[in-house]
Amino acid sequence: MIAVFLGAPGSGKGTQAKRLSARFGIPQLSTGDMLRASIAAGTELGRKAKTFIDEGQLVPDGVVLGLIQERIQSEDCKPGFILDGFPRTVGQAEGLDAILKSAHRSMSRVVLFSIDESVLAERLTGRRTCGSCGAMYHVKFQPSREPGVCDACGGSLNQRADDSIEVIRKRMDVFRKQTQPLEDFYSGLCIMTSIDASQDPDRVFEQVRSALE
Ligand code: AP5
Ligand code: MG
Repeated sequence: MIAVFLGAPGSGKGTQAKRLSARFGIPQLSTGDMLRASIAAGTELGRKAKTFIDEGQLVPDGVVLGLIQERIQSEDCKPGFILDGFPRTVGQAEGLDAILKSAHRSMSRVVLFSIDESVLAERLTGRRTCGSCGAMYHVKFQPSREPGVCDACGGSLNQRADDSIEVIRKRMDVFRKQTQPLEDFYSGLCIMTSIDASQDPDRVFEQVRSALE
């Protein structure tokens, strides 16, 4: 199975990709997580990516296509994978198509996380992520037992640098202009299912699971 999760910042792509990855036994490939890992590791790529991420802008297509092309050659991607937050421009979608064709593989489904923009700022400003294991929380919607401490591993919970209200506004704008055109791109290929991402996480999970099965 090769699935793409498409949706606005905060629509719940990462939350559901983690759960579905565990359910189906295939990896979650989040270009956002890969870029943040490069920043944390202090690599040249990470330094370049940081300037775009801090501004709420997209990292150039060639950079993320290179990351994905390399990652999907790994052994764990053989049974399939979930692409979380990639592609997010028509250029990336065309590049992905070419990468999959050359590997004699094809996309199974695109899941569109459909949601009203008005709820996204609260979701993003309240998000907390464990610095050690990557588990995700929300101060109101999914709080940890002890504030600032991960339930799973005891690591400390951090707020993402691009989850400030100014950068969130820019990310929304970029989503509308550069990523939303992908809805037409994929609905034209008849492989897209739209789900209501404003429901509670368990209901969203059930709908995405049934779209993928
Ligand atoms: P990325 O990391 O992909 O961020 P994003 O697309 O902006 O999406 P988010 O991760 O913010 O949201 P999400 O949909 O995963 O929501 P989540 O599940 O966390 O990208 C960051 C940056 O990297 C980009 O701006 C760009 O610069 C760069 N980049 C990445 N990929 C790129 C690409 N392909 N091309 C170019 N540049 C790229 O949920 C959010 C919060 O809501 C959490 O706290 C969660 O607990 C809560 N929540 C989730 N679901 C629910 C629910 N159903 N009800 C209530 N609360 C919920
Ligand atoms: Mg995410």
